[in-house]
This record gives sequence, structure tokens and C-alpha cells, in this order.
Amino acid sequence: MAQIELSAIRKSFDGTDVLKGIDFRIEDGEFISLVGPSGCGKSTLLRIIAGLEPQNSGQVHIDGRPVDAIRPSARNLAMVFQSYALYPHLSTFDNIAVPLRMRRLSAIERLPLLGKLLPGRRAKERHIRADVEGIAEQLDISPLLRRKPGQLSGGQRQRVAVGRAMVREPLAFLFDEPLSNLDAKLRVHMRAELAELHRRLKATFVYVTHDQAEAMTMSSRIAVMMGGELIQAGTPAEIYNDPRDIRVAEFIGSPKINVLPGRIRKDGGLDVLGTAVKLSCQAAAGECRVGVRPERIDLGAGPFSGTVVHLENLGAEAFVHLAIEGAGLRLIARLADVRQLPAMASSITFGFAPDAVRIFDPAGKRIEIRLEQPERVREPAHV
Ligand SMILES: Nc1ncnc2c1ncn2[C@@H]1O[C@H](COP(=O)(O)OP(=O)(O)OP(=O)(O)O)[C@@H](O)[C@H]1O
Ligand SMILES: [Mg+2]
Repeated sequence: MAQIELSAIRKSFDGTDVLKGIDFRIEDGEFISLVGPSGCGKSTLLRIIAGLEPQNSGQVHIDGRPVDAIRPSARNLAMVFQSYALYPHLSTFDNIAVPLRMRRLSAIERLPLLGKLLPGRRAKERHIRADVEGIAEQLDISPLLRRKPGQLSGGQRQRVAVGRAMVREPLAFLFDEPLSNLDAKLRVHMRAELAELHRRLKATFVYVTHDQAEAMTMSSRIAVMMGGELIQAGTPAEIYNDPRDIRVAEFIGSPKINVLPGRIRKDGGLDVLGTAVKLSCQAAAGECRVGVRPERIDLGAGPFSGTVVHLENLGAEAFVHLAIEGAGLRLIARLADVRQLPAMASSITFGFAPDAVRIFDPAGKRIEIRLEQPERVREPAHV
């Protein structure tokens, strides 16, 4: 188990800054997801932690020890890649055993024929066998130990890759999009498996993904990266409910948060689409952007109206796409009760509670609000 501390990490490739000063501390035993759009520098940061890529400046500490001069294999971190990087000619057993043989057998003992004649090798192989079989059992892949990677499904290969990482008993696991090659259903299943594995091992997990749903469902904390900067870190609930930057609000949550044009009045009041919302803003008068999540839009009542232009009925819930007349704007509202589905092309009114809005200044930074009245129990929405 390990605590990992990153201080002022900078990295550039060919004169382009890819990481622009990352400060972050990962606590022992945390499941941290690094999320962000493609190209924002997630893999580069993970590779720097692993020692596979040198940073231009800044330090990495593991358990308080600077590791910048320590080569990757001696950092005792295990990396699991998107492609799994299994040896195609080796069985599952041998793939998992590779790190143990590298560590426990001498160069001569590793020789295929001569090595077998050496007296110590048998006993070492027995221990290796026991360790590999123990891991295989934990991961539920015991029946697959004789098969080669080509004879395994994507999910099974993924488990073998995790097994090969586990067998080394690393201080921390580093995952780089390990599920992205799997189909949607298997990905959801493997999420639960990885979260369960983390609970069991209690090891530090650093997990890179551009899939916000993976990050939301597995992690104890999420760190959101954009354009080489780490812009917010927090629990999934904090990141979802309290985004400090509009890029975080828009990246996390599916369907995406709705963003409406707003204007802060001189008295601190807020107008959205020309209608006053009951709250006051702690910012100077001017334009702003107002975010409202799809599940916070109340359909069927409120001061706004839109036309239903698209319906996504998922059975247990539905998403209603509305076009707002005159504003050139589209909104998505989540409907919890699909029996209330409005008709296509119908006109529908909607609103939202003042505490549902998150306001951002033109640079995308969050503006604090004060609700005018304490939150009362509201009547349930009709729809
Ligand atoms: N070895 C390299 N040489 C030059 N540029 C690189 C190198 N590795 C990465 N980059 C660039 O650095 C930026 C960050 O890359 P990185 O792989 O860290 O992104 P990422 O966030 O992992 O993206 P993705 O989600 O697509 O995997 C990209 O613009 C990429 O093209
Ligand atoms: Mg990557």
C-alpha cells in the first residue's frame, strides 16, 4: 500500500506543454480515477508515476520517499494497460508467473533446460505455482490457467492482466483504461469486479479513464484533468454536485448538464431566458452561464416552455429533448416516470428549483449563490 504525492509535475513533448504543473496527493488505499478528455495528459501522468516517462520538472514521492531516481521496476508499482500486454505464446499460468520468475529465479535458474536441473529451482517453482493458483482462484480464472491469451475473452484477458499485476504484491496498482477494449455490458460487469477487488486488497488504485461513468461508479475520489491541468479533485458526489469549473460540470454526468444563458442583474438577482430565478449571486452584474442537470428539470410546470423534439425511452427512465423557441437552444430533461412521456412535437412547460442551478462566469469559474428563502419542502412535480 502506498501514498503517492505529485508536486509541480511538468512535462512537454516537442515544445508543447502536456502537463502544466500537477500537484496532487493520493492517500494510501484510495481508489483514485484520473478522468478527462482524450489528450489531456492522463496517461502521461500515470507513466510519470510509474517511472516509464521522465518529467521535465517536479517530484514524485511514494510513501514520503522521492522516487525520481528510482527505475520503474524498483518502484514496486504494477501497471495494467488497455491492451493488457499479455505474452501471446504463454499460457495464462505462465503470463501470471512471469513477474515471480523474474524476481525469484536467478538468471541460470530461468534457463529452460539447464535451469530445471538446478536443485533450488523445484522448490521455488512449487511456491510460484501456489501463488499463481491462489491469485487465479481470487480472480475466478482457475479453469483458464492452461489457455493462451488468444483463447480468452476480453474480460478474461483483463483478469489475467490484473492477476499478473497482483502476483507482485505491488505498493499500488496503476490502470490505464483497462476496460476500454470490452463491450458495454462486460465493462459494467468489470467495474463492479474492480471495485470489489479494491475493497478486498485495500491497495492504492490509480485508474485512468476518459469514461466518466467508470470514474463515478468505482472511485473514492475523482481527479478531473483538462488541457494538462488538474482542475478539480473530490468524491464522485462532490464532483457531480459541486463542480468548480464549467468544464467539470460538462464532463461529468450523462446526459450532459444543460447550460443556459443567464444574466446577473445589478442587484445580484439572476435572469435565465428572461425570467427571474429566486436567488442572489455573489458576483458583479453581467453575462453568465447557468447549469441545470437533466434530473433537476421539472417538466409540466414552471415559467419556461419548449417543444419536444426527441424522446429517449430507456424503459426505467426517459430523456426528453426540448427545443426552446427563440433561444436556439436545446435542453434534456430526465423523466423518472416513463408513463408520463409527452408526445413528440408537443409544447411543454418546465422549470427548476433555485437550488438546482450552478452558475459560472464567462471564464467558466463557479459563482456562489444565496438562495432567497430557506429550502422548503416543495410540492412534487406533476410529471
Ligand atoms: N511520446 C510522445 N511524444 C509526443 N507527444 C506525446 C507523446 N506522448 C503523448 N504525447 C502527447 O501528449 C498529449 C497527452 O497525451 P496522453 O497520452 O497523456 O493523453 P491521454 O489523456 O491519456 O489521452 P487518451 O484519453 O486519448 O488516452 C497528447 O497531445 C499526445 O499527443
Ligand atoms: Mg491515455
